[in-house]
Amino acid sequence: MGTDYTNDYLGRMKRFLLGVWMLMSLGGTALGQDFSLEKGWKFYRGDAKGAERPDFDDSHWETVRIPHDWAIYGPFSDNNDRQTVRIEQNGEKEATTKTGRTGGLPYTGIGWYRCELPTLGELYDRVAYLEFDGAMSHARVYVNGAEVAYRPYGYVPFWTEVTKHLTTGRNVLAVRLENKEQSSRWYPGAGLYRNVTLRVKGTLSVQPWSISITTPEAYTGYAKVHIRGSFRAEWSGAQYEVRTYFLGPKGDTVKAELFRPVETTQVRRPSPTQKVVVGDNPFDMAYVLDRPKLWSPESPSLYTAITELVLGKRVIELGRERIGIRSIDFSKAYGFRLNEKVRKLKGVCLHHDLGPLGAAVNKAALKRQLTILKDLGVDAIRTTHNPPAPELIKLADEMGFFTIVEAFDEWKTPKVKNGYAADFDAWAEQDVANMVQRFRNSPSVILWSIGNEVPDQWAEGGVERAKRLQAVCHREDPSRRVTAGMDQYEAVMKNGFAAALDVAGFNYKPHKYREALAQLPVGFLYGSETASTVSSRGVYEFPALIGKNVTHPDGQSSSYDLEYCWWSQLPEDEWAQQDSILQVMGEFVWTGFDYLGEPTPYDEKWPSHSSYFGICDLAGLPKDRYYLYRSRWNTAKPTLHALPHWTWPGREGQTTPVYVYTSYPKAELFVNGKSQGVRTFAKTGNRQDRYRLRWNEVVYQPGNLEVVAYNAQGKEAERRVVQTAGKPAALRLEADRTRLKADGKDLAFVTVSVVDADGNLCPQAADELRFAVTGAGSYRAAANGDPTCLTAFHEPKLKAFSGKLVVLVQAAEQAGPITLTVTGAGLKEGVVGLVVE
Ligand code: GAL
Repeated sequence: MGTDYTNDYLGRMKRFLLGVWMLMSLGGTALGQDFSLEKGWKFYRGDAKGAERPDFDDSHWETVRIPHDWAIYGPFSDNNDRQTVRIEQNGEKEATTKTGRTGGLPYTGIGWYRCELPTLGELYDRVAYLEFDGAMSHARVYVNGAEVAYRPYGYVPFWTEVTKHLTTGRNVLAVRLENKEQSSRWYPGAGLYRNVTLRVKGTLSVQPWSISITTPEAYTGYAKVHIRGSFRAEWSGAQYEVRTYFLGPKGDTVKAELFRPVETTQVRRPSPTQKVVVGDNPFDMAYVLDRPKLWSPESPSLYTAITELVLGKRVIELGRERIGIRSIDFSKAYGFRLNEKVRKLKGVCLHHDLGPLGAAVNKAALKRQLTILKDLGVDAIRTTHNPPAPELIKLADEMGFFTIVEAFDEWKTPKVKNGYAADFDAWAEQDVANMVQRFRNSPSVILWSIGNEVPDQWAEGGVERAKRLQAVCHREDPSRRVTAGMDQYEAVMKNGFAAALDVAGFNYKPHKYREALAQLPVGFLYGSETASTVSSRGVYEFPALIGKNVTHPDGQSSSYDLEYCWWSQLPEDEWAQQDSILQVMGEFVWTGFDYLGEPTPYDEKWPSHSSYFGICDLAGLPKDRYYLYRSRWNTAKPTLHALPHWTWPGREGQTTPVYVYTSYPKAELFVNGKSQGVRTFAKTGNRQDRYRLRWNEVVYQPGNLEVVAYNAQGKEAERRVVQTAGKPAALRLEADRTRLKADGKDLAFVTVSVVDADGNLCPQAADELRFAVTGAGSYRAAANGDPTCLTAFHEPKLKAFSGKLVVLVQAAEQAGPITLTVTGAGLKEGVVGLVVE
């Protein structure tokens, strides 16, 4: 990130005076302006010679808006990135051909993007930066033909200064991206899938992400807030002061006393003869705030810290950071604490794709995911296995989730043929540093994870690499500890890898927790990845049997929640350990939502191309497992859920087990009014019966299945009925939100259910449905959660899966009403109205 400064005194003076003039003409506020470069992009799929040049003719290129994922439009094919490999991590002895490993989508190859930058005119006393939230991948960034940045890692945020490359006239930004085949273990997406921002600042300013704010002491009585940074300057002789003031959660200015008047340079008075040190004027100060509102997942109060540079009468805003005041600590005595209260992390792992939107980040889609996770009772997210979109962390800060921000899935020793390993030596430290700088002011972040199951766990030099990356995190953020997700238990306990980390995370090792705690010096740990149970929404296989790596002819996994991988467990295997050991600080279930790629247990069986691990499916619809976790995690609202569905033509007279996932202590089951007995949770014995209520011998008869839950006093608390459905007759539409923002990006997620004449869900309906949107919006995509479905998400038609699917409707940039109409042969159409405002 080289910066070109002119040392010529007169030139500086001239620019300084111009700067002062501009400052005054702007009423003394900042010279800064951010331009989100969303629109006006041209895109070309393939290599284009000379496309970096400003005069290149791109008129025949496609017009796109970013965030944009070029691969999500398909078509799906088992020829896209076929990987004939032996997955060592999965214990495979021989190489086999994995067809849907990266989603069966065309993410490999080259793509070019070009856009014209907003006109800035003379820059005088201003500097300009380009900031990328991530670009997939091997981004080469050109401004007016000059290469200004190269960044291989597709997930990492980066910025570069471009001031000297800008002209007063037209300025063209061009980005070339290239994805190699066999470069991922899941669907990575392709292109400018995250936001790009042009940031213009005054010369007296801080570089992007350079202010760091921590809360070393945070109690209900008071908090200390520590602000560090450094601003660049191009003048000498002036007196200056740096100060911060705070806005409270309601936007009011809060009282803050300067606690430490700057160990270093809060008030520094360089003598007129002092040589100017351009670009490095550090500040470091602490304030005390009285009775702060502490941040927690349950009460995510946010403050704004506004840092200013004061030059005599002039005040220049250096930065505006949103922070949360909270304390986190870890101890052998109690595991994890937030604000001095012991708690266990109720977490999920999340890959970055958004199902039918692919990797193209969208705030409304993320917000919907987090809203679903809130209801589930989740309080923590691990961003597997890469730095996330800033939108996710911002929402986690606002909505109240802890996050573990993860850097890598591999270091120097590869997992895939063309993965990060090749770039590790040259880039790892910079990538980790940028990740930490970008997210360190977010209260949601509790740990930095430097890797997931990296083969360097046992490879030579691995422990040193771990220490090095951990040290980079500490350097950039002394306030947080560092972790990694480990699976090679024997190796990491023996070679010191686990002990070298501040906090050990284990993937799928509940049976080793006690042993590890006895050996690890710190005396606490957590389940960085747990369960990896597989299921398909609404699909039940008979008989209901526990099984590892089970496959079925229909390419689905059973929603009796009994199927898992040989390296993993059922949810209860983890819970039994979590519940009995205080120093096990919680878990991160693999995964919250299904994702594109990694269709285990059907890695070799096309057309499977998306995961079965999710608690929710690829469309975001809850599977039965959702209620199993909810019954444990959501302590604010009760859960009562029965499975399977009760529409089984042909199963009459056959044993059809019924499970109830509930937070109530006991329940009674009835089939057509006849009691099947009362069940309570077992205290010992079979783990499933400790967490699920099961009636294994129920004989199927059409009619109704009714579950009555009783509270601790034995009184009826709630009841649920599952009715046998008749023939599909109509479509029922339910929108997650009906009011959308007129920004051309906002989305409504409309769940469509195929129902019978009485409104009962037809749980096996697979009707092909068609979608039409009129008014102030457009049809964006649809998904049904079936991992074997090959219909492209943007086609305006799709088959229902287990009676349901989800349609995404996108707002226009103008206000007005929208109507979504869904039709299917022989079905009464479904209509929903939305409003864009
Ligand atoms: C873990 C791995 C995850 C995913 C999972 C599937 O070992 O870290 O990325 O592959 O297995 O069970």
